Amino acid sequence: MKLSVIGCGYLGAVHAASMVELGHDVVGIDVDPEKIEMLNSGNAPFFEPGLPEILRSALASGRLRFTTEISEARGAGAHFIGVGTPQKKGEYAADLTYVDSAIDSLIPYLADGDLVVGKSTVPVGTAERLAKIIAAGSGAILAWNPEFLREGFAVKDTIEPDRLVYGVPAGNDGIRATEILNRIYSRAIANETPLVVTDYATAELVKVSANAFLATKISFINAMAEIADATGADVTQLADAIGFDARIGRRFLNAGVGFGGGCLPKDIRAFTARAEELGRGESVAFLKQVDAINLRQRDRVVQMVVDALGGNVYEKKVAVLGLAFKPFSDDIRDSPALDVAVRLHGLGANVVATDPEAIANSRKLHPQIVFADDSVDALVNADVIVVVTEWNEFRALVPGDVSKLTAGRVIIDGRNCLDPESWRAAGWTYRGLGRP
Ligand code: UDX
Repeated sequence: MKLSVIGCGYLGAVHAASMVELGHDVVGIDVDPEKIEMLNSGNAPFFEPGLPEILRSALASGRLRFTTEISEARGAGAHFIGVGTPQKKGEYAADLTYVDSAIDSLIPYLADGDLVVGKSTVPVGTAERLAKIIAAGSGAILAWNPEFLREGFAVKDTIEPDRLVYGVPAGNDGIRATEILNRIYSRAIANETPLVVTDYATAELVKVSANAFLATKISFINAMAEIADATGADVTQLADAIGFDARIGRRFLNAGVGFGGGCLPKDIRAFTARAEELGRGESVAFLKQVDAINLRQRDRVVQMVVDALGGNVYEKKVAVLGLAFKPFSDDIRDSPALDVAVRLHGLGANVVATDPEAIANSRKLHPQIVFADDSVDALVNADVIVVVTEWNEFRALVPGDVSKLTAGRVIIDGRNCLDPESWRAAGWTYRGLGRP
């Protein structure tokens, strides 16, 4: 099929290239000329394993191009909306400016029977409102098809999703929308990927409730880590033990400095704001606790560093290992790791931070921090080490080798990703979260 993808950020760029992998002809459209130029030259504007490869092969096939001209969406049978829905400045609600303007600018180029497919994460009720605007301005149909991709696995998650959700209108329009989406995702359908065909509101809520659940799971285990710290229990063993219960599951039960990124934090806040608008604030009031527990972990990690330095970090060298919100990403949006680095700097520590991918982004936002290109430079003469993103190269550090570089012998494991025994055996003071 001929497809257009409007918005070529994380979601849109990956979606556009992946749709070509699935056999479609795609035009990617974005208002940012720099991004378009990069994409057209086969370069991903962010770090995502596997994306440059499929981007280049799609461009070489002649079935993918990027443009700033929305008029080039004309002639595509389906138009994906993949623009951002960030948190509003000074508020918890989602900012829908980009979604609204994408729809407004697309309408003049829609033909009767075209399908507009919303992929952005939006507050429940948005699709219903947009469907009316689209119907008033064209003969196109709207479907809402939330995206569940994880950064670092975005290409795989798009090409081989673990489930498909279509929010479609009632009646014949819904049948037609479902048929078009089934054609687009024919490979996943042939592979018997679970499919839920539902209404707009359910589709919108599936996405935010999935992220709310994941965030809750992480904050639950971090709350248990706080209790473990007060009692001498071990949260990692606790997670293993409860995780053996198939109803609970071990995944997303890693205690640490908490969740960040472009989705979980803003999605739980937007969900809270939307529920309050609906008069159902109390139904999701627990998400405020989830958020508070999450933010508290950053305080805890900073405090652990302060304690390790005897209460005063001033002019002490702190090696901060990690800046990205998680490994295999250069994303620093709402990153707990970067936050810890910035806070320690603010307390007067001599912070030297490193990350395999996220230094360039971090430097743009926080030029006051000193960045080291590799962990050796960060570790030299450090009084204390704090690991805040669990990249493999940090996990693989050999305590005996690190001892030759640093001044101090204290390591704070903000991701519970190191082996306490091997560090202690090499003469280090090891501290994790909720680990005795
Ligand atoms: C998330 C959802 O997983 C994905 O389905 C959705 O489409 C977008 O939001 P992503 O933001 O890429 O994806 O990151 P994810 O892997 O979910 O991790 C989120 C954060 O939680 C990271 O900061 C990670 O370090 C943290 N995390 C995750 C924990 O602290 N503990 C865990 O056990 C798991």
